[in-house]
Amino acid sequence: MTSYFNVIYLTLCHLYFVEGATQTCAIKQNSSIKNKTTTSWMFQESLVSSKLDCAAQCLTNPSCITYMINRNTKVCRLFSTRITQYNTLTSEAGYLSYDTCRATDAFGSPCSSNSNCKLANTICVDNMCQCDAGWSYSQNTLQCVRSCVHYGTMFTKIKQSYISGNDLITLTAPQYITASGCGQACVAVTSFTCLSFELDTTFGRCYLQSVTPFLVSLLDFLQLLGTTVDYYQRNCAYV
Ligand SMILES: *[C@@H]1O[C@H](CO)[C@@H](O)[C@H](O)[C@H]1NC(C)=O
Ligand SMILES: *[C@@H]1O[C@H](CO)[C@@H](O)[C@H](O)[C@H]1NC(C)=O
Repeated sequence: MTSYFNVIYLTLCHLYFVEGATQTCAIKQNSSIKNKTTTSWMFQESLVSSKLDCAAQCLTNPSCITYMINRNTKVCRLFSTRITQYNTLTSEAGYLSYDTCRATDAFGSPCSSNSNCKLANTICVDNMCQCDAGWSYSQNTLQCVRSCVHYGTMFTKIKQSYISGNDLITLTAPQYITASGCGQACVAVTSFTCLSFELDTTFGRCYLQSVTPFLVSLLDFLQLLGTTVDYYQRNCAYV
């Protein structure tokens, strides 16, 4: 196994020189993700002729942090974050997952406290680094940004927090009282650009809004240990 890994590594270095880059990029398989895949945070999918082609596609695209290759079907999936709790993993035979050298300090890096999160404006939430409240993750620049040119379908959760007094739509039907149900409603709304939502699973409320903590008074963004409401920030689309 070690020698196989080395061969891939050396060949990639070679490919990288072919592309004119001077940097090398080590690749590590995440052995806890086998025969599982996801499309959340995925920005490109293609058919490749080999595992090496998939690695080369990832390394030559500056937005690629992690890739998955299906050894059976040769489907190659590129991701602009590490695989995190925000990825819905489903079982599918043949998939393996690899992190590139860009995964160090990237969105989704493991952490135990905020000081472990080196990317600007990231904090440690549930043992992974993600953008702080109000910041959206850009899959294009791999940074946390104050606003996006185009908003995507992924959200990050800030627990026990909400923006006071800015709800434009309140939904109570059971299909909206989950993170994915309320998120889909936020993405689907056309009368305004939905930038965030709040979910109260205890009292069965999904609130859609067109603001982030940066667009309201500081005093209107509340982080309260006792509240049953969680805040979800919409992230940018890959364009
Ligand atoms: C592998 O992926 C799992 C699931 O996303 C993650 O929790 C873990 O930290 C990853 N392992 C490494 C070594 O990055
Ligand atoms: C993954 O699926 C392959 C068949 O594609 C099988 O041979 C292998 O044992 C499976 N690995 C794990 C860890 O489940």
